[in-house]
Amino acid sequence: LPKELYGKRRNSAGFEFGHRESLAALMARLATENKSVDAAPLVPGAAGQTEVVNVLSPSDRSRKVGTVRNAALADVDRAFVTGRKGFASWSRQPAEARAACLEKMGDLLEQNRDRLLVLLAAEAGKTLDDGIAEIREAVDFCRYYAEQARTLFAEPEAMPGPTGESNRLLWRGRGVFACISPWNFPLAIFLGQIAAALVAGNAVVAKPAPQTPLIAFEAVKLFHKAGVPADVLMFLPGGPDIGAAISAHPQLAGLAFTGSTGTAQAINRTLAAKNGPIVPLIAETGGINAMIVDATALAEQVADDVVMSAFRSAGQRCSALRILYLQEDIADGMLEMIEGAARELNLGDPAMTTTDVGPIIDEKQTAMLKSHVDEMRKTQKVRYSGQVPNSGNFFAPQIIELDKPEALTKEVFGPVLHVVRWKAKDLPKVIESVASTGYGLTLGVHSRIEATIRAVTDALDTGNVYINRNMIGAVVGTQPFGGSGLSGTGFKAGGPAYLMRFALEQVVSVNT
Ligand code: SER
Repeated sequence: LPKELYGKRRNSAGFEFGHRESLAALMARLATENKSVDAAPLVPGAAGQTEVVNVLSPSDRSRKVGTVRNAALADVDRAFVTGRKGFASWSRQPAEARAACLEKMGDLLEQNRDRLLVLLAAEAGKTLDDGIAEIREAVDFCRYYAEQARTLFAEPEAMPGPTGESNRLLWRGRGVFACISPWNFPLAIFLGQIAAALVAGNAVVAKPAPQTPLIAFEAVKLFHKAGVPADVLMFLPGGPDIGAAISAHPQLAGLAFTGSTGTAQAINRTLAAKNGPIVPLIAETGGINAMIVDATALAEQVADDVVMSAFRSAGQRCSALRILYLQEDIADGMLEMIEGAARELNLGDPAMTTTDVGPIIDEKQTAMLKSHVDEMRKTQKVRYSGQVPNSGNFFAPQIIELDKPEALTKEVFGPVLHVVRWKAKDLPKVIESVASTGYGLTLGVHSRIEATIRAVTDALDTGNVYINRNMIGAVVGTQPFGGSGLSGTGFKAGGPAYLMRFALEQVVSVNT
Protein backbone atom coordinates (compact mmCIF):
# COMPACT_ATOMS: atom_id res chain seq x y z
CA LEU A 1 0.00 0.00 0.00
CA PRO A 2 1.21 3.55 -0.67
CA LYS A 3 2.86 5.13 2.38
CA GLU A 4 0.29 7.96 2.36
CA LEU A 5 -2.49 5.54 3.34
CA TYR A 6 -0.82 5.04 6.72
CA GLY A 7 -1.52 8.71 7.49
CA LYS A 8 0.68 11.65 8.18
CA ARG A 9 -1.65 14.12 9.92
CA ARG A 10 -1.70 14.70 13.65
CA ASN A 11 -4.49 13.35 15.82
CA SER A 12 -6.96 15.72 17.49
CA ALA A 13 -6.09 17.51 20.71
CA GLY A 14 -6.96 16.05 24.12
CA PHE A 15 -7.96 17.72 27.35
CA GLU A 16 -5.72 18.23 30.38
CA PHE A 17 -7.88 17.25 33.37
CA GLY A 18 -5.04 18.22 35.71
CA HIS A 19 -5.23 21.89 34.68
CA ARG A 20 -7.58 23.40 37.29
CA GLU A 21 -8.64 26.52 35.40
CA SER A 22 -9.44 24.64 32.18
CA LEU A 23 -11.34 22.01 34.12
CA ALA A 24 -13.38 24.59 36.04
CA ALA A 25 -14.21 26.36 32.76
CA LEU A 26 -15.22 23.05 31.14
CA MET A 27 -17.46 22.08 34.07
CA ALA A 28 -19.13 25.52 33.99
CA ARG A 29 -19.83 25.14 30.27
CA LEU A 30 -21.13 21.59 30.67
CA ALA A 31 -23.61 22.76 33.32
CA THR A 32 -25.32 24.91 30.68
CA GLU A 33 -25.57 22.10 28.08
CA ASN A 34 -28.71 20.29 29.16
CA LYS A 35 -31.03 20.59 26.21
CA SER A 36 -33.26 17.56 25.67
CA VAL A 37 -32.84 15.83 22.27
CA ASP A 38 -35.83 14.51 20.33
CA ALA A 39 -34.67 12.02 17.72
CA ALA A 40 -36.67 10.76 14.75
CA PRO A 41 -35.88 9.06 11.44
CA LEU A 42 -33.96 11.26 8.99
CA VAL A 43 -35.18 9.99 5.65
CA PRO A 44 -36.86 12.42 3.25
CA GLY A 45 -40.61 11.75 3.49
CA ALA A 46 -40.31 9.18 6.30
CA ALA A 47 -43.40 8.35 8.29
CA GLY A 48 -41.75 7.06 11.46
CA GLN A 49 -43.71 5.36 14.20
CA THR A 50 -46.35 7.29 16.10
CA GLU A 51 -45.08 6.14 19.48
CA VAL A 52 -42.56 8.40 21.18
CA VAL A 53 -40.16 6.59 23.51
CA ASN A 54 -38.37 8.28 26.41
CA VAL A 55 -34.60 7.83 26.54
CA LEU A 56 -33.50 7.58 30.17
CA SER A 57 -30.02 8.01 31.55
CA PRO A 58 -28.34 4.74 32.63
CA SER A 59 -26.84 6.41 35.71
CA ASP A 60 -30.17 7.86 36.83
CA ARG A 61 -33.27 6.14 35.50
CA SER A 62 -35.47 9.04 36.62
CA ARG A 63 -33.64 11.40 34.29
CA LYS A 64 -35.06 11.80 30.79
CA VAL A 65 -32.32 12.68 28.29
CA GLY A 66 -34.69 13.02 25.37
CA THR A 67 -37.09 11.05 23.22
CA VAL A 68 -36.93 8.92 20.11
CA ARG A 69 -39.51 8.15 17.49
CA ASN A 70 -38.30 4.98 15.82
CA ALA A 71 -38.49 4.27 12.11
CA ALA A 72 -41.46 2.39 10.70
CA LEU A 73 -40.67 -0.70 8.62
CA ALA A 74 -41.85 1.12 5.47
CA ASP A 75 -39.14 3.74 6.07
CA VAL A 76 -36.45 1.14 5.38
CA ASP A 77 -37.55 0.68 1.79
CA ARG A 78 -38.03 4.42 1.39
CA ALA A 79 -34.45 4.98 2.57
CA PHE A 80 -33.05 2.56 0.00
CA VAL A 81 -35.10 4.01 -2.87
CA THR A 82 -34.06 7.55 -1.88
CA GLY A 83 -30.47 6.42 -1.29
CA ARG A 84 -30.18 5.05 -4.84
CA LYS A 85 -30.97 8.53 -6.15
CA GLY A 86 -28.58 10.20 -3.73
CA PHE A 87 -25.89 7.70 -4.63
CA ALA A 88 -26.14 8.54 -8.33
CA SER A 89 -24.92 12.11 -7.76
CA TRP A 90 -22.76 11.60 -4.64
CA SER A 91 -20.67 8.85 -6.24
CA ARG A 92 -19.88 11.13 -9.20
CA GLN A 93 -18.60 13.93 -7.01
CA PRO A 94 -14.82 14.26 -6.98
CA ALA A 95 -13.27 12.43 -4.01
CA GLU A 96 -11.97 15.83 -2.92
CA ALA A 97 -15.52 17.13 -2.35
CA ARG A 98 -16.44 14.11 -0.24
CA ALA A 99 -13.19 14.38 1.72
CA ALA A 100 -13.89 18.08 2.36
CA CYS A 101 -17.28 17.14 3.91
CA LEU A 102 -15.50 14.78 6.32
CA GLU A 103 -13.03 17.44 7.29
CA LYS A 104 -15.82 19.89 7.90
CA MET A 105 -17.50 17.22 10.03
CA GLY A 106 -14.31 16.87 12.10
CA ASP A 107 -14.36 20.64 12.73
CA LEU A 108 -18.06 20.61 13.64
CA LEU A 109 -17.48 17.82 16.15
CA GLU A 110 -14.77 19.88 17.82
CA GLN A 111 -16.98 22.97 17.86
CA ASN A 112 -19.83 20.97 19.43
CA ARG A 113 -17.61 19.04 21.83
CA ASP A 114 -19.21 20.21 25.07
CA ARG A 115 -22.72 19.39 23.96
CA LEU A 116 -21.63 15.96 22.73
CA LEU A 117 -19.74 15.32 25.96
CA VAL A 118 -22.84 16.00 28.04
CA LEU A 119 -24.91 13.74 25.82
CA LEU A 120 -22.31 10.93 25.95
CA ALA A 121 -22.42 11.04 29.75
CA ALA A 122 -26.21 11.32 29.99
CA GLU A 123 -27.27 8.86 27.29
CA ALA A 124 -24.41 6.35 27.22
CA GLY A 125 -23.03 6.72 30.76
CA LYS A 126 -19.57 7.77 29.52
CA THR A 127 -17.21 9.29 32.05
CA LEU A 128 -15.75 12.63 31.03
CA ASP A 129 -12.38 11.24 30.02
CA ASP A 130 -14.02 8.41 28.06
CA GLY A 131 -16.27 11.01 26.42
CA ILE A 132 -13.34 13.22 25.44
CA ALA A 133 -11.48 10.19 24.06
CA GLU A 134 -14.53 9.14 22.08
CA ILE A 135 -15.03 12.58 20.51
CA ARG A 136 -11.35 12.68 19.61
CA GLU A 137 -11.63 9.26 17.97
CA ALA A 138 -14.62 10.47 15.96
CA VAL A 139 -12.71 13.56 14.79
CA ASP A 140 -9.68 11.44 13.93
CA PHE A 141 -11.75 9.01 11.85
CA CYS A 142 -13.09 11.93 9.79
CA ARG A 143 -9.68 13.45 9.13
CA TYR A 144 -7.89 10.14 8.60
CA TYR A 145 -10.39 8.82 6.07
CA ALA A 146 -10.51 12.20 4.31
CA GLU A 147 -6.77 12.13 3.86
CA GLN A 148 -6.82 8.55 2.62
CA ALA A 149 -9.65 9.19 0.18
CA ARG A 150 -7.52 11.84 -1.52
CA THR A 151 -4.74 9.31 -2.06
CA LEU A 152 -6.89 6.37 -2.96
CA PHE A 153 -9.86 7.69 -4.87
CA ALA A 154 -8.77 10.98 -6.44
CA GLU A 155 -7.13 9.80 -9.67
CA PRO A 156 -7.34 6.47 -11.50
CA GLU A 157 -4.10 4.53 -11.20
CA ALA A 158 -2.35 3.84 -14.51
CA MET A 159 -1.46 0.14 -14.70
CA PRO A 160 1.56 -1.15 -16.65
CA GLY A 161 0.59 -2.77 -19.95
CA PRO A 162 1.51 -3.37 -23.57
CA THR A 163 2.12 -0.53 -26.03
CA GLY A 164 -1.08 0.57 -27.70
CA GLU A 165 -3.25 -0.02 -24.66
CA SER A 166 -4.04 2.09 -21.63
CA ASN A 167 -5.16 0.37 -18.40
CA ARG A 168 -6.49 2.36 -15.51
CA LEU A 169 -7.72 1.17 -12.16
CA LEU A 170 -10.26 3.26 -10.34
CA TRP A 171 -12.36 2.94 -7.20
CA ARG A 172 -16.04 3.70 -7.03
CA GLY A 173 -18.80 3.57 -4.45
CA ARG A 174 -20.82 0.39 -4.20
CA GLY A 175 -24.32 1.85 -3.79
CA VAL A 176 -26.44 2.11 -0.65
CA PHE A 177 -24.33 0.91 2.25
CA ALA A 178 -25.80 0.05 5.68
CA CYS A 179 -24.01 0.95 8.90
CA ILE A 180 -25.23 -0.79 12.06
CA SER A 181 -23.45 0.16 15.24
CA PRO A 182 -23.33 -0.56 19.00
CA TRP A 183 -24.19 1.47 22.08
CA ASN A 184 -20.74 1.31 23.66
CA PHE A 185 -19.19 3.79 21.20
CA PRO A 186 -22.38 5.53 20.08
CA LEU A 187 -20.48 8.39 18.47
CA ALA A 188 -17.06 7.11 17.35
CA ILE A 189 -18.03 3.72 15.93
CA PHE A 190 -21.36 4.97 14.56
CA LEU A 191 -19.65 7.82 12.81
CA GLY A 192 -16.47 5.98 11.80
CA GLN A 193 -18.42 3.46 9.73
CA ILE A 194 -20.49 6.22 8.13
CA ALA A 195 -17.47 8.42 7.34
CA ALA A 196 -15.70 5.52 5.60
CA ALA A 197 -18.76 4.52 3.58
CA LEU A 198 -19.52 8.11 2.54
CA VAL A 199 -16.03 9.09 1.49
CA ALA A 200 -15.75 5.94 -0.63
CA GLY A 201 -18.73 7.23 -2.63
CA ASN A 202 -21.64 5.32 -1.08
CA ALA A 203 -25.01 6.52 0.12
CA VAL A 204 -25.57 5.37 3.71
CA VAL A 205 -28.46 4.03 5.71
CA ALA A 206 -27.41 4.21 9.38
CA LYS A 207 -29.05 2.39 12.27
CA PRO A 208 -27.85 3.28 15.77
CA ALA A 209 -28.15 0.93 18.74
CA PRO A 210 -31.62 1.22 20.29
CA GLN A 211 -30.05 2.32 23.61
CA THR A 212 -28.25 5.35 22.11
CA PRO A 213 -30.27 7.01 19.34
CA LEU A 214 -29.84 10.61 20.53
CA ILE A 215 -26.13 11.12 20.09
CA ALA A 216 -26.36 9.30 16.74
CA PHE A 217 -29.18 11.63 15.64
CA GLU A 218 -27.03 14.63 16.55
CA ALA A 219 -24.11 13.18 14.58
CA VAL A 220 -26.23 12.68 11.46
CA LYS A 221 -27.50 16.25 11.69
CA LEU A 222 -23.89 17.47 11.88
CA PHE A 223 -22.99 15.39 8.81
CA HIS A 224 -25.84 17.09 6.95
CA LYS A 225 -24.57 20.46 8.13
CA ALA A 226 -21.10 19.49 6.89
CA GLY A 227 -22.52 19.15 3.38
CA VAL A 228 -23.66 15.53 3.07
CA PRO A 229 -27.04 15.64 1.27
CA ALA A 230 -30.15 14.37 3.06
CA ASP A 231 -30.69 11.67 0.41
CA VAL A 232 -27.10 10.43 0.80
CA LEU A 233 -27.06 9.87 4.57
CA MET A 234 -30.23 8.57 6.19
CA PHE A 235 -30.95 7.72 9.79
CA LEU A 236 -33.17 4.82 10.84
CA PRO A 237 -33.45 4.49 14.62
CA GLY A 238 -35.04 1.25 15.77
CA GLY A 239 -34.63 -2.25 17.12
CA PRO A 240 -33.77 -5.64 15.61
CA ASP A 241 -36.77 -5.54 13.23
CA ILE A 242 -35.31 -2.49 11.47
CA GLY A 243 -31.85 -4.11 11.44
CA ALA A 244 -33.29 -7.29 9.92
CA ALA A 245 -35.19 -5.34 7.23
CA ILE A 246 -32.01 -3.43 6.33
CA SER A 247 -29.91 -6.61 6.01
CA ALA A 248 -32.59 -8.31 3.92
CA HIS A 249 -33.17 -5.38 1.56
CA PRO A 250 -32.54 -6.27 -2.10
CA GLN A 251 -30.89 -2.89 -2.81
CA LEU A 252 -28.28 -3.30 -0.06
CA ALA A 253 -24.77 -2.94 -1.54
CA GLY A 254 -22.65 -3.54 1.58
CA LEU A 255 -22.99 -3.68 5.35
CA ALA A 256 -20.71 -2.53 8.14
CA PHE A 257 -21.64 -3.97 11.51
CA THR A 258 -20.09 -3.63 14.96
CA GLY A 259 -21.65 -5.56 17.82
CA SER A 260 -21.97 -9.10 19.08
CA THR A 261 -20.59 -12.13 17.26
CA GLY A 262 -24.03 -13.76 17.29
CA THR A 263 -25.67 -10.82 15.54
CA ALA A 264 -22.85 -10.65 12.97
CA GLN A 265 -23.38 -14.33 12.20
CA ALA A 266 -27.14 -13.80 11.88
CA ILE A 267 -26.55 -10.87 9.48
CA ASN A 268 -24.14 -13.03 7.50
CA ARG A 269 -26.80 -15.72 7.13
CA THR A 270 -29.38 -13.15 5.98
CA LEU A 271 -26.97 -11.78 3.38
CA ALA A 272 -26.07 -15.26 2.19
CA ALA A 273 -29.73 -16.28 1.82
CA LYS A 274 -30.52 -13.42 -0.55
CA ASN A 275 -30.97 -14.13 -4.19
CA GLY A 276 -29.42 -10.92 -5.41
CA PRO A 277 -25.88 -9.57 -5.60
CA ILE A 278 -23.28 -10.95 -3.16
CA VAL A 279 -23.09 -8.32 -0.44
CA PRO A 280 -19.84 -7.76 1.49
CA LEU A 281 -20.02 -7.72 5.29
CA ILE A 282 -17.53 -5.78 7.37
CA ALA A 283 -17.96 -7.08 10.91
CA GLU A 284 -16.18 -6.08 14.09
CA THR A 285 -17.38 -8.09 17.05
CA GLY A 286 -16.19 -9.16 20.49
CA GLY A 287 -13.56 -11.27 22.17
CA ILE A 288 -12.60 -13.28 25.22
CA ASN A 289 -9.52 -11.08 25.42
CA ALA A 290 -6.58 -12.41 27.41
CA MET A 291 -3.58 -10.89 29.12
CA ILE A 292 -0.63 -13.18 29.84
CA VAL A 293 1.61 -12.10 32.70
CA ASP A 294 4.83 -13.88 33.62
CA ALA A 295 7.03 -13.62 36.71
CA THR A 296 9.34 -11.01 35.13
CA ALA A 297 6.56 -8.44 34.68
CA LEU A 298 6.68 -5.12 36.51
CA ALA A 299 4.03 -5.56 39.22
CA GLU A 300 2.85 -1.94 39.59
CA GLN A 301 2.55 -1.57 35.84
CA VAL A 302 0.56 -4.82 35.60
CA ALA A 303 -1.87 -3.73 38.34
CA ASP A 304 -2.44 -0.41 36.63
CA ASP A 305 -2.91 -1.93 33.18
CA VAL A 306 -5.18 -4.73 34.39
CA VAL A 307 -7.50 -2.36 36.25
CA MET A 308 -7.61 0.02 33.29
CA SER A 309 -8.15 -2.75 30.72
CA ALA A 310 -10.79 -4.68 32.68
CA PHE A 311 -12.74 -1.95 34.47
CA ARG A 312 -12.45 1.34 32.57
CA SER A 313 -15.73 2.13 30.80
CA ALA A 314 -17.20 -0.50 33.18
CA GLY A 315 -15.60 -3.13 30.93
CA GLN A 316 -18.03 -2.22 28.14
CA ARG A 317 -15.43 -2.24 25.39
CA CYS A 318 -14.96 -5.03 22.92
CA SER A 319 -11.22 -4.64 23.55
CA ALA A 320 -11.50 -5.06 27.35
CA LEU A 321 -9.53 -7.64 29.28
CA ARG A 322 -11.69 -10.64 30.19
CA ILE A 323 -9.21 -13.31 31.32
CA LEU A 324 -5.91 -12.70 33.05
CA TYR A 325 -3.30 -15.46 33.05
CA LEU A 326 -0.97 -14.92 36.02
CA GLN A 327 2.17 -17.00 36.44
CA GLU A 328 1.61 -18.70 39.78
CA ASP A 329 4.89 -17.54 41.41
CA ILE A 330 3.61 -13.95 41.44
CA ALA A 331 -0.14 -14.55 41.46
CA ASP A 332 -0.90 -13.93 45.15
CA GLY A 333 1.03 -10.65 45.34
CA MET A 334 -0.35 -9.47 42.00
CA LEU A 335 -3.94 -10.24 42.94
CA GLU A 336 -3.55 -8.35 46.18
CA MET A 337 -2.34 -5.29 44.26
CA ILE A 338 -5.07 -5.57 41.64
CA GLU A 339 -7.78 -5.92 44.27
CA GLY A 340 -6.34 -2.94 46.15
CA ALA A 341 -6.40 -0.84 42.99
CA ALA A 342 -9.95 -1.99 42.13
CA ARG A 343 -11.09 -0.98 45.62
CA GLU A 344 -9.97 2.60 44.89
CA LEU A 345 -12.28 2.94 41.88
CA ASN A 346 -15.08 5.41 42.29
CA LEU A 347 -18.39 4.39 40.75
CA GLY A 348 -20.99 7.06 40.14
CA ASP A 349 -22.32 9.89 38.02
CA PRO A 350 -20.23 9.81 34.84
CA ALA A 351 -20.41 13.59 34.48
CA MET A 352 -18.45 14.11 37.73
CA THR A 353 -14.67 14.42 37.49
CA THR A 354 -14.26 12.19 40.56
CA THR A 355 -15.91 9.21 38.82
CA ASP A 356 -13.72 6.43 37.43
CA VAL A 357 -16.41 3.95 36.43
CA GLY A 358 -19.83 4.85 35.08
CA PRO A 359 -23.01 2.81 34.79
CA ILE A 360 -23.99 -0.26 32.78
CA ILE A 361 -25.99 0.66 29.71
CA ASP A 362 -29.32 -0.94 30.66
CA GLU A 363 -31.18 -3.36 32.93
CA LYS A 364 -30.83 -6.27 30.50
CA GLN A 365 -27.03 -6.03 30.49
CA THR A 366 -26.93 -5.62 34.26
CA ALA A 367 -29.10 -8.72 34.72
CA MET A 368 -26.83 -10.66 32.37
CA LEU A 369 -23.75 -9.67 34.43
CA LYS A 370 -25.47 -10.53 37.69
CA SER A 371 -26.56 -13.94 36.47
CA HIS A 372 -23.03 -14.66 35.19
CA VAL A 373 -21.46 -13.86 38.56
CA ASP A 374 -24.17 -15.85 40.42
CA GLU A 375 -23.54 -18.81 38.15
CA MET A 376 -19.75 -18.55 38.58
CA ARG A 377 -20.13 -18.36 42.35
CA LYS A 378 -21.43 -21.95 42.34
CA THR A 379 -18.18 -23.50 41.10
CA GLN A 380 -15.48 -20.79 41.03
CA LYS A 381 -13.97 -18.41 43.56
CA VAL A 382 -15.31 -14.84 43.49
CA ARG A 383 -12.39 -13.02 45.13
CA TYR A 384 -13.65 -9.47 44.99
CA SER A 385 -17.01 -7.73 44.52
CA GLY A 386 -16.99 -3.94 44.74
CA GLN A 387 -19.65 -1.57 46.07
CA VAL A 388 -22.33 0.00 43.90
CA PRO A 389 -24.07 3.36 44.30
CA ASN A 390 -27.61 3.15 45.66
CA SER A 391 -29.40 4.27 42.55
CA GLY A 392 -28.82 3.94 38.82
CA ASN A 393 -27.83 1.05 36.66
CA PHE A 394 -24.48 0.10 38.17
CA PHE A 395 -22.54 -3.12 38.45
CA ALA A 396 -19.48 -3.29 40.65
CA PRO A 397 -16.11 -4.58 39.44
CA GLN A 398 -15.66 -8.30 40.15
CA ILE A 399 -12.60 -10.50 40.23
CA ILE A 400 -13.25 -14.20 39.78
CA GLU A 401 -10.55 -16.82 40.04
CA LEU A 402 -11.14 -19.77 37.71
CA ASP A 403 -9.84 -23.29 38.34
CA LYS A 404 -9.28 -23.63 34.59
CA PRO A 405 -9.62 -21.22 31.62
CA GLU A 406 -12.36 -23.36 30.05
CA ALA A 407 -14.65 -22.30 32.93
CA LEU A 408 -15.19 -19.07 30.96
CA THR A 409 -17.09 -19.97 27.83
CA LYS A 410 -18.45 -16.63 26.59
CA GLU A 411 -17.68 -12.95 26.32
CA VAL A 412 -18.97 -11.22 29.46
CA PHE A 413 -19.50 -7.58 28.50
CA GLY A 414 -18.89 -5.68 31.72
CA PRO A 415 -16.48 -5.11 34.63
CA VAL A 416 -15.83 -8.78 35.40
CA LEU A 417 -12.22 -9.92 35.45
CA HIS A 418 -11.48 -13.65 35.36
CA VAL A 419 -8.10 -14.87 36.55
CA VAL A 420 -6.25 -18.15 35.97
CA ARG A 421 -2.87 -19.20 37.35
CA TRP A 422 -0.27 -20.91 35.18
CA LYS A 423 3.03 -22.68 35.77
CA ALA A 424 6.18 -21.50 33.95
CA LYS A 425 6.50 -24.76 32.01
CA ASP A 426 2.93 -24.47 30.75
CA LEU A 427 3.23 -21.41 28.50
CA PRO A 428 2.33 -23.51 25.41
CA LYS A 429 -0.87 -24.63 27.17
CA VAL A 430 -1.77 -21.02 27.97
CA ILE A 431 -1.26 -20.07 24.32
CA GLU A 432 -3.39 -23.02 23.28
CA SER A 433 -6.26 -22.08 25.54
CA VAL A 434 -6.21 -18.47 24.30
CA ALA A 435 -6.29 -19.73 20.70
CA SER A 436 -9.03 -22.26 21.44
CA THR A 437 -11.61 -19.55 22.18
CA GLY A 438 -11.77 -18.87 18.43
CA TYR A 439 -11.75 -15.12 19.09
CA GLY A 440 -8.87 -12.85 18.12
CA LEU A 441 -9.48 -9.22 19.02
CA THR A 442 -7.03 -7.99 21.66
CA LEU A 443 -4.21 -9.64 23.59
CA GLY A 444 -1.96 -8.33 26.33
CA VAL A 445 1.45 -9.65 27.33
CA HIS A 446 3.48 -8.53 30.33
CA SER A 447 6.98 -9.97 30.30
CA ARG A 448 10.60 -8.82 30.18
CA ILE A 449 11.66 -11.97 28.33
CA GLU A 450 11.94 -11.45 24.60
CA ALA A 451 11.51 -15.19 23.87
CA THR A 452 8.24 -15.34 25.82
CA ILE A 453 6.83 -12.31 24.03
CA ARG A 454 7.84 -13.79 20.69
CA ALA A 455 6.41 -17.24 21.50
CA VAL A 456 3.02 -15.72 22.35
CA THR A 457 2.82 -13.25 19.47
CA ASP A 458 4.08 -15.75 16.88
CA ALA A 459 1.52 -18.36 17.88
CA LEU A 460 -1.57 -16.14 17.99
CA ASP A 461 -3.13 -14.14 15.16
CA THR A 462 -5.03 -11.78 17.47
CA GLY A 463 -5.76 -8.46 15.75
CA ASN A 464 -4.35 -6.04 18.36
CA VAL A 465 -1.50 -7.13 20.60
CA TYR A 466 -0.33 -4.90 23.46
CA ILE A 467 3.01 -5.62 25.15
CA ASN A 468 3.77 -4.25 28.63
CA ARG A 469 0.90 -1.75 28.53
CA ASN A 470 -2.89 -1.66 28.82
CA MET A 471 -4.92 -3.20 26.02
CA ILE A 472 -7.73 -0.73 25.33
CA GLY A 473 -8.17 2.60 23.60
CA ALA A 474 -6.80 1.97 20.11
CA VAL A 475 -5.88 5.27 18.45
CA VAL A 476 -6.89 6.01 14.85
CA GLY A 477 -3.92 5.67 12.50
CA THR A 478 -1.68 4.47 15.34
CA GLN A 479 -3.37 1.22 16.37
CA PRO A 480 -5.70 0.31 13.50
CA PHE A 481 -8.35 -1.78 15.24
CA GLY A 482 -10.11 -5.06 14.53
CA GLY A 483 -9.76 -8.81 14.97
CA SER A 484 -9.90 -12.19 13.34
CA GLY A 485 -11.96 -15.38 13.64
CA LEU A 486 -15.05 -14.90 15.83
CA SER A 487 -13.92 -11.30 16.40
CA GLY A 488 -14.54 -10.03 12.90
CA THR A 489 -13.74 -9.87 9.23
CA GLY A 490 -11.18 -7.02 9.17
CA PHE A 491 -10.05 -4.72 7.61
CA LYS A 492 -9.13 -2.63 10.57
CA ALA A 493 -10.96 0.59 11.39
CA GLY A 494 -8.58 3.55 11.45
CA GLY A 495 -6.10 1.59 9.33
CA PRO A 496 -4.64 1.85 5.83
CA ALA A 497 -6.89 -0.71 4.12
CA TYR A 498 -10.30 0.01 5.69
CA LEU A 499 -11.69 2.29 2.98
CA MET A 500 -11.04 -0.27 0.28
CA ARG A 501 -13.65 -2.57 1.75
CA PHE A 502 -16.27 0.08 1.16
CA ALA A 503 -15.41 0.58 -2.52
CA LEU A 504 -15.48 -1.31 -5.80
CA GLU A 505 -12.49 -1.58 -8.11
CA GLN A 506 -12.97 -1.07 -11.80
CA VAL A 507 -10.37 -1.46 -14.52
CA VAL A 508 -10.81 0.33 -17.81
CA SER A 509 -8.63 -0.94 -20.67
CA VAL A 510 -8.53 1.19 -23.80
CA ASN A 511 -7.05 0.12 -27.11
CA THR A 512 -5.27 3.31 -28.14
N1 SER B 1 -11.53 0.79 19.79
C1 SER B 1 -11.92 0.47 21.13
C2 SER B 1 -10.73 0.21 22.00
O1 SER B 1 -9.65 0.02 21.47
C3 SER B 1 -12.84 -0.72 21.03
O2 SER B 1 -13.59 -1.12 22.00
O3 SER B 1 -10.83 0.17 23.18
